[in-house]
Amino acid sequence: MDLSQARHAFVTGGASGIGLGVADALVARGLAVTIADIDADAVERALAGRANFRGVVLDVRDRGGWARAKAEAEAAFGPVDVLVNNAGIGPDGAQIADLTYESFDRIVGINLVGVFNGVATFASDMRGRGRGHIVNTASIAGLFASAPGVSAYGLAKFGVVAMTETMRGELAPHGVGASVLCPGFVATNIIANTARLSGEETDYDGGVAPGSGMSPAEAGEIVARGIGADRLYILTHPEMWPMIEGRHNAIAADFAAADKEQAGATV
Ligand SMILES: NC(=O)c1ccc[n+]([C@@H]2O[C@H](COP(=O)([O-])OP(=O)(O)OC[C@H]3O[C@@H](n4cnc5c(N)ncnc54)[C@H](O)[C@@H]3O)[C@@H](O)[C@H]2O)c1
Repeated sequence: MDLSQARHAFVTGGASGIGLGVADALVARGLAVTIADIDADAVERALAGRANFRGVVLDVRDRGGWARAKAEAEAAFGPVDVLVNNAGIGPDGAQIADLTYESFDRIVGINLVGVFNGVATFASDMRGRGRGHIVNTASIAGLFASAPGVSAYGLAKFGVVAMTETMRGELAPHGVGASVLCPGFVATNIIANTARLSGEETDYDGGVAPGSGMSPAEAGEIVARGIGADRLYILTHPEMWPMIEGRHNAIAADFAAADKEQAGATV
């Protein structure tokens, strides 16, 4: 989408990390931004000293809350042109055999169903107006099964990739774009925020030193450019391609094997 034609963006998880980086990048391009976040204190901190920002407290799992947040945001800044479904929590470190129902439901409820709730709230309006762009935040873990302990997280992020690929085909004929953000490591407070929001300690450290990785501001700029270029996959870490290629090669190899077996079976 040509961002010079856009006026209002709604960014979930916008009070921290990547979401705040995206919000800043969009405000720098002339949009007004509503940040929506479950953490009221973080919303207040984010709004301090920022112009063209409004904040709304929203749990992306709360469907009634979504309707209220949309009404409030649009009353202030007009129709939403850009929706960034970015709110999320990190993996809990549990391997799938040890994953609790509570943890699975929390991770999938926020990282996958929460994204759908945002799409369900805004996509039909955008289609009706014939304009808009939706960015869904997945992860590099939505493009390959990254590591032990990322089971529910990876499942949710693969789901976000699939949802966005489908949406893009459905919405493009109506002038609405869709992108999926698949970041590698970005230096945010996701590990501490996840522990706090989950109400439980986790010893999962993501395998990286806290604070390492790309800055949220840089990630935000990449997202703004990705929207402008109407990219399906918005990627922050091109050096991670060999890992995704490894998955693609494994699929190709099993297709080739299936082809050989079936050719053999018909002889
Ligand atoms: N940081 C990374 O390395 C990385 C890598 C890949 C993907 N991601 C994804 O990027 C997104 C943003 O993460 P981040 O690293 O900026 O983390 P962050 O913790 O800095 O920001 C996430 C924000 O989402 C909010 N949030 C959490 N649960 C919510 C809910 N139920 N409703 C509304 N808001 C909620 C948090 O309060 C927080 O402000 C997440 O979806 C995450 O999975 C991050």
